[in-house]
Amino acid sequence: METYLNTIRSALIDYLPEKPQDQRHILYDSMVYMLQTKSKCIRPLLVCAVSEYLNEPIEKTLALGCALEYVHTYSLIHDDLPAMDNDDWRRGQEACHIAFGEDVAILSGDCLQIYAIECLATQLIKHYDAKRIVSVIVEFSKALGLYGMAGGQHLDLFFSNCDVKPDQPVFESINQLKTGALLSLPFSLPALLLNTSKTEAQLLKKIGIHFGFLFQAADDILDVIGTKESLGKTPQKDIKQHKATVVDLLGLDQAKVYAKEQQEQCLALIAQLKEGSSELLEQLLSVVYRPIC
Ligand code: IPE
Ligand code: IPE
Ligand code: MG
Ligand code: MG
Ligand code: MG
Repeated sequence: METYLNTIRSALIDYLPEKPQDQRHILYDSMVYMLQTKSKCIRPLLVCAVSEYLNEPIEKTLALGCALEYVHTYSLIHDDLPAMDNDDWRRGQEACHIAFGEDVAILSGDCLQIYAIECLATQLIKHYDAKRIVSVIVEFSKALGLYGMAGGQHLDLFFSNCDVKPDQPVFESINQLKTGALLSLPFSLPALLLNTSKTEAQLLKKIGIHFGFLFQAADDILDVIGTKESLGKTPQKDIKQHKATVVDLLGLDQAKVYAKEQQEQCLALIAQLKEGSSELLEQLLSVVYRPIC
């Protein structure tokens, strides 16, 4: 995992456009500031795990992982803005808008989002057929828009600003959109790019769905039990901001039971994958699950 992590961290900077020589270097610096932190890089690591499973050299799919980390980082920069979750601490350092100002943070997110698409198009074409890349870009874009992350973020903010609490199905759909949509891409996109069998693609997709539910449940639980040092972001914010979280919906103990169920579902599905090719996937599952159990 460490080797993959180093490869990903270097590629995240190497793939960026050149540093501008004029005042736009500030915007570039803000992107690098967010990308050079100790993010867990779960999404690109999942791309490595799935590529490994599909016997595809990770050098060929690395751009997929980087594009996911670019858009994830953009989503966090915007999530922390005063108009959204208003957090001043992220990845163990000042949030982007505190370090660079709100104007730069908004534009930094914009650049990362669109650069992710550019990165997919310009890097993947070195190895894959253009038609496959178009399919990947369509799925990628869908997972970010109205019917994906941005739509989910809107619902998250809508329910935190009103008296009505979402019931479990609505709540699960918010999580599925705001977090699950992006987290399922490391499972679905390599399968799409490599044109794997339908059965295999469906199995990977199912793992991605449960991984996404587990991921947001763990994030919600850690907001309650974690510290600023361990999380690298401000804890105990969700209750103050009336967020509809797994803990709010079920209570802390039942939230842990829910997370365990999701982890077990993932393990049961991983067990259906070809033998000996899922070690990294299991390791990543425990990176997400272990801190809350
Ligand atoms: C946190 O994501 C925000 C959610 C989507 C729940 P991560 O826990 O992956 O954050 P980083 O990338 O490691 O900072
Ligand atoms: C963030 O969820 C989800 C996205 C950025 C899309 P949270 O608001 O719970 O993430 P944290 O807790 O601030 O990292
Ligand atoms: Mg949020
Ligand atoms: Mg937040
Ligand atoms: Mg959270």
